[in-house]
Amino acid sequence: MLINWREIAQKIYDDIKNQVEKMENKPKLVVILVWNNSASLRYVAQKHKWAEYCWIDYELVHLDENISQEELETIINKLNKDDNVSWYIVQLPLAKHINEIKIIDLIDPKKDVDWFHPENQWKLLIWDESWFVPCTPAWIIEILNDFNIDFNWKKAVVVWRSNIVWKPATTLLINKWCTVTSCNSKTLDISKYTKDADIIVMAVWKPWLLTSDMVKKWSLIIDVWFTVIDWKIYWDCDTQEIDKKWCIITPVPGWVWAMTVAMLMKNTLKSALLNK
Ligand code: GUN
Repeated sequence: MLINWREIAQKIYDDIKNQVEKMENKPKLVVILVWNNSASLRYVAQKHKWAEYCWIDYELVHLDENISQEELETIINKLNKDDNVSWYIVQLPLAKHINEIKIIDLIDPKKDVDWFHPENQWKLLIWDESWFVPCTPAWIIEILNDFNIDFNWKKAVVVWRSNIVWKPATTLLINKWCTVTSCNSKTLDISKYTKDADIIVMAVWKPWLLTSDMVKKWSLIIDVWFTVIDWKIYWDCDTQEIDKKWCIITPVPGWVWAMTVAMLMKNTLKSALLNK
């Protein structure tokens, strides 16, 4: 069964819109875009579209992709000091010549509505989810919550290694008392773990890495990414074959953006409410 994210995301957007409509001072989100790759441009367009829908003020700072590390750092420092900017995000990934870790490190943690700064990620590690959760891991949990599943005894496998999806998703599942296994490209036989898993999170960018013989019946599979080769879309999971096993699967693309952006709007609203 493929999950109908459209309904889940729309409900979140409508809920945010209802709350923001009643606010005297509308929340504002600033988005820094440095690298013009097609995925980032689409992401940013979605952020603009849904911010407008939710009545959230939106400003795009579109920088030249050849900007130097020093110039970008100067802009980040200025945003940190600018009292008119309460929250901003730097769209990732950044161009190869930019040191991404250094840039994330420079973002003022109090203005970091993506929750990527080490200080904020640390809060998750110490089981504090009362502030925010990075957007992609946040919707992974939101979708699992939507199924009303009891996390307590579930075996979860998270495949890949990244700071913005894999690590926080792993942490959140641990916080929920799942028994979590983390796999990556050096894992010798991923199927050994996925075959036994109740929840599988794939965020790999590797076409059809997860096939139907690697999963058990009724597992919940969250497929975060896809790859485009010769204009054809390949999911991390062989969605059609796995679907025959009555697994519950998220369809990508499209709604990965919708859900991630919905969580960003949620974080922006929450920041505004906490700081009012
Ligand atoms: N690139 C892909 N997902 C995200 C996200 O949630 N935030 C930012 N800043 N960049 C991204």
